[in-house]
Amino acid sequence: MERRLKYGVLRLIHGDITEQGVDAIVNAANSSLMGGGGVDGAIHRAAGPELHRECMEIIKKIGRLEPGGAVHTGSGRLRERGIKWVIHTVGPVWRGGKYREAEALERCYRNSMALARNLGAESMAFPSISTGAYGYPVEKAAEIALYAIIDELESHEGIEEVRMVLYSTYDFKIYAESLKSL
Ligand code: APR
Repeated sequence: MERRLKYGVLRLIHGDITEQGVDAIVNAANSSLMGGGGVDGAIHRAAGPELHRECMEIIKKIGRLEPGGAVHTGSGRLRERGIKWVIHTVGPVWRGGKYREAEALERCYRNSMALARNLGAESMAFPSISTGAYGYPVEKAAEIALYAIIDELESHEGIEEVRMVLYSTYDFKIYAESLKSL
């Protein structure tokens, strides 16, 4: 499923983000960039130890990465798959919706895309940020993610393709329904 926008195309993909041949992939990290489970674990495993070393260098400089923020590293062994950069962003932990979780989630997508544009990436892939361990309801997260990506692709030149990569059939279905209604 895809949507053509003014400057690029948004594609929904059912699959694994580490297997996407795009310039940049986005990691749903935590504030200490320590690595973890879920998509974070999958990306670190596929990229190898270089990624962790680079993340620790960043943390030495900035202390911690706040929810909504985004930083980048190289891609370690993922270079062999054509991926040049990993963009690490931290989604909000869902606490019922009254703690500006939506704003933080939207910033994850917009800041990651701004960073990708600055790096010169022409293609990038997102996982469904915050909807795993961080508990964000996927229907709500899908609407925010897709709206932010569409708006960025309508207003900024540079990125020609954004893949939203959904790991489960259920999440793919929810994102597809959400895209139809936007
Ligand atoms: N490719 C794409 N998506 C994946 C993959 C993968 N290889 N593996 C898991 N996912 C999906 C999950 O199914 C979920 O829908 O990524 C989505 C986000 O889930 P999490 O990885 O749990 O991310 P999040 O909810 O943002 O929680 C972040 O989890 O791993 C830790 O260090 C991370 O503390 C941080 C927290």
